[in-house]
Amino acid sequence: MTQQPLGPLGSRIVVDQATLQATVSELGRRIAEDYEGEDLRLITVLKGGLFFITDLCRAINAPLSIDFVSLQPYSQGGAGLVRLTKDLSDDIEGACVILVEDVIDTGLTANYVLKHLRSHRPKRLDVCVLLDKPARRIAEVPIGYRGFEMPDEFLIGYGLDLNGRYRNLPYIAALPDDAVL
Ligand code: IMP
Ligand code: MG
Repeated sequence: MTQQPLGPLGSRIVVDQATLQATVSELGRRIAEDYEGEDLRLITVLKGGLFFITDLCRAINAPLSIDFVSLQPYSQGGAGLVRLTKDLSDDIEGACVILVEDVIDTGLTANYVLKHLRSHRPKRLDVCVLLDKPARRIAEVPIGYRGFEMPDEFLIGYGLDLNGRYRNLPYIAALPDDAVL
């Protein structure tokens, strides 16, 4: 068996930079085709989605705008409980909105954001996720565009962090269990 290349903290590179960029380009091509002539808005959740949305929007050969929301977990709350700390800047009523997510794990975050976006009455609402980790899914999320389906491992890079770090890695790496503790 060939040795897998290593990232920081003994992580294994599971999606290299070239594969990542090729998949992002293909997602962009499909979105441009599907939303031709529409008022397209890409919305992501800070900070993780920042890296994916900037590459994705440049892969979409069509007019569009981007916007951001920010969430914070409730300090007293259980898993998945979040509140909005930064709302949309633009009105999305009647527009075609795609929620762009770096990773969907339990689905609770995406579900919360989708509910919020739906309350602003977009014409269409879709989800584009780079990394789908279905193993621990609690809330169903209707995913229209999926980059990679991943096993239940803790991933870093391309927006995904460990305690705020490693978002800037240009690839996706999986951490050994003892690095996440
Ligand atoms: P959820 O479980 O789908 O609600 O995801 C919650 C959040 O956990 C995501 O937005 C990420 O910030 C974070 N997260 C989930 N899986 C990973 C991972 O593998 N690496 C880094 N962050 C993750
Ligand atoms: Mg995070």
